[in-house]
Amino acid sequence: MSTTLDARLGEQLRQFRSDGVYKTLNFLEGPQGARARMEGRGEVIILSSNNYLGLCNEPSVVAAGKAAFDRYGAGSASVRFICGTLTIHRELETALARLVGTPSSLSFMSCWNANEAFPGTLLTEDDLILSDQLNHASIIDGLRLAKAITRCQTGVYRHNDMKDLDEKLGQATDRKIKMVVTDGVFSMEGAIVNLPDLVTVCRKHGAVVVVDDSHSTGVLGATGRGTAEHFGMVGEVDIITTTLGKALSGGAGGFVAGSAEVTDYLIQRARPQLFTNALPAPVAAAGLAAIEFLEAHPERVRTLQANTRYFREGLTALGFQPLEGDTPIIPVIVCETAAAIRMSQLLLEEGVFVTGFGYPVVPQGTARVRCQISGAHTTADLDEALRAFAKVGKSLGLI
Ligand SMILES: Cc1ncc(COP(=O)(O)O)c(C=O)c1O
Repeated sequence: MSTTLDARLGEQLRQFRSDGVYKTLNFLEGPQGARARMEGRGEVIILSSNNYLGLCNEPSVVAAGKAAFDRYGAGSASVRFICGTLTIHRELETALARLVGTPSSLSFMSCWNANEAFPGTLLTEDDLILSDQLNHASIIDGLRLAKAITRCQTGVYRHNDMKDLDEKLGQATDRKIKMVVTDGVFSMEGAIVNLPDLVTVCRKHGAVVVVDDSHSTGVLGATGRGTAEHFGMVGEVDIITTTLGKALSGGAGGFVAGSAEVTDYLIQRARPQLFTNALPAPVAAAGLAAIEFLEAHPERVRTLQANTRYFREGLTALGFQPLEGDTPIIPVIVCETAAAIRMSQLLLEEGVFVTGFGYPVVPQGTARVRCQISGAHTTADLDEALRAFAKVGKSLGLI
C-alpha cells in the first residue's frame, strides 16, 4: 500500500468535494425503464439513460439472453481467434451489418474497444487521421494510441466545420491514406454531424469516412438505422462504429462495420480483438434480439422521436433554452459545474434522475444537465419531469 499515493488521492478527492464537483454513484435496484427503483429513494423517472428504445427490460430481449445462458453457458472462455467464437457472434454481426448497411461487421467487448482498435490497426506511418473537436473520449484515445503505435499523423478539425476539414485534408498531399472520424450524434451536445458535406469533402480528397453511431443507431432515421439513414445516405459511410450499450439492449458490446477487408484485417491484427475474451453469449444474444425487435417495431423509433419533440418543446415553454437539435440528447446549459451538480441533486429530490456534467467532461463554463429521452417514456412521465424542471428551475432562478 502506498501511503504517499493514498495521501495525494485523498487530498484531491477532498478538493473535488469542496469544489462541488465530486461524483456520487446512485444505485438502481432493478432494471432500467422509463422509471426505476433507486436505493434509498424509491421510484424515480430516468432521464439520464442511453436506453433510447426502452429495450433494457423488453421481455423478448431478456428472454434471448436467458436462453443463451442455457445454450452456450456463462462465457466464451477465450479470445475470438483461439476458441471464443460462437455461432451467436456470427448471427449478431450479420444482423448488425444488415441494420447499418455495410457488407460486414465485427464485434468487440465495447465501442470503446472498437474505437481504440481501428485507427491503430488500419493505419500506418504513411497515413493521416482527422477527428472532430467534440468527438467522444474513446475516439480521442484511439487516435492517441494510433499515433503512439504506428506514428501515423493525427489532427483535429473544428466541430462540424467542413471548411476547416477541407483545408486540413488539402494540406495532407503526402499522406497515402486519409481518414476522417466523427461522432454521428455528439454525445454532450446532441448535435448531428453534417454528413452530406462531410462525405462530399472526404470524397474530394479521397478520404475514408468513419462515423461513430453509438448515439444514432436505433435513434436516427425513420427505422433507426442511424446517421446515414437520417440523411438518406445508407451505404455511403465507409466505416461505422457503434454499441449495444445504448438503444440496442443497453448491454455491452461494440462494433466496427465496414467492408469485408476492414473486418477481416481487424480479426487478424486488432489488439483489443486478439487479446481479450469474446463478447459473452447472453450479451450477444440480447443484442441480437434487440436488433430484431427494432427491425420488427420501427414505430418505437417514431415514439422516441415524438417524445423528444414533446419534452424539448415543454422545456422551452417553461423558459429554459436547451441546446438546439433533433436528437433525444437535450442539454440545459447552466455554465458552472457545481450548478449542474446542484440542479441534478434538486431534480433527484423531486424524483427525476438526470445527471449534471461539468469540466473535464465538457469545456469549462459550459456545464450542463443533460436530459436523455426514451421511447419507453409515457406522456405522464414526461409531464411529471417537466413539473420538476419548472420547480427546480424557479428555485435556482434559471427561469
Ligand atoms: C459516441 C460514443 N462512442 C463510444 C462510446 C463507448 O461505448 P461503449 O459503452 O460501448 O464502450 C460511447 C459511450 O458513452 C459514446 O457516447
